[in-house]
Amino acid sequence: MTFNHKHIIGIKDLTAEELTFILDTSISFKEINRRDIKKVPTLRGKTIINLFFEASTRTRTSFEIAGKRLSADTINISASGSSVVKGETLEDTAKNIQAMNPDAIVMRHHASGASDYLAKRLDCAVINAGDGMHEHPSQALLDAFTIREHKGKIEGLTVAIIGDITHSRVVRSNIYCLTKLGAKVRVAGPGTMLPPGIDKLGCEAYTNIDDAIKGSDVVMMLRIQRERQGAPLIPSVREYSRFFGLTHQRLKLAKENVIVMHPGPINRGVELPTSIADGPQNVILDQVENGVAVRMALLYLACGGEKLQD
Ligand code: CP
Repeated sequence: MTFNHKHIIGIKDLTAEELTFILDTSISFKEINRRDIKKVPTLRGKTIINLFFEASTRTRTSFEIAGKRLSADTINISASGSSVVKGETLEDTAKNIQAMNPDAIVMRHHASGASDYLAKRLDCAVINAGDGMHEHPSQALLDAFTIREHKGKIEGLTVAIIGDITHSRVVRSNIYCLTKLGAKVRVAGPGTMLPPGIDKLGCEAYTNIDDAIKGSDVVMMLRIQRERQGAPLIPSVREYSRFFGLTHQRLKLAKENVIVMHPGPINRGVELPTSIADGPQNVILDQVENGVAVRMALLYLACGGEKLQD
């Protein structure tokens, strides 16, 4: 097949076939990442700008590494180091960057819809690296890649995603991605962190996390997104942890070979204890490793690397 999307804004826009194509394309990039010399000339002469208006460790670093391993020139711009602090608008900032002829802009922004806004106004490819509470497509793809790697498939699996569902862009992208690929998705969290109508996206919603974990193949924990909440949505972190934190006892409700995932950053002792975060069922650093391969595939496809044939 050919991949004909100029921009990568959300998983909602992609078909199951396109998602599988991206995951399959990522396999060869993972192999490159494990070589002694981790660089190929695929995007030589291309310029990629990472434009990050929000903090990031994993996404920004892995997009930068991904671009460099494909031999592209990668430039990082953060809000604090840009003229945004002098009052420049997002559109003006982006148009000025585009005037320097980059091939792709990878953007993280606190406003939902910001990547789509730019994609409609710029000629270069725009890749959404997380926009507000909307989507985080590369995270869902690296999660799907990791699940497929550990379980050998995605279709037919049950995935429980637990935490602050309302404010999570990761959960929205994962619901789209995993249900399109044939998994059953359950989401769970306190009633104040479960948006009404979330089940209309194709998942089941629970306020009792034991019910969500029971029989699951994958348990994905999310942190409380304090930076996106207004008034406190829980009486205390201690109480949240007691009712919605993962424990060894709760994990026993899942299938015996369950894997535990987390997009990071982890709040140890809140959504899960260190003994689980670092325990035998965790695949959290596999997610991080796979993030580089998946982002190499996304840059390759968005920057018009040769159209791949299957
Ligand atoms: N998972 C994730 O997006 O992490 P960062 O915020 O560190 O990029």
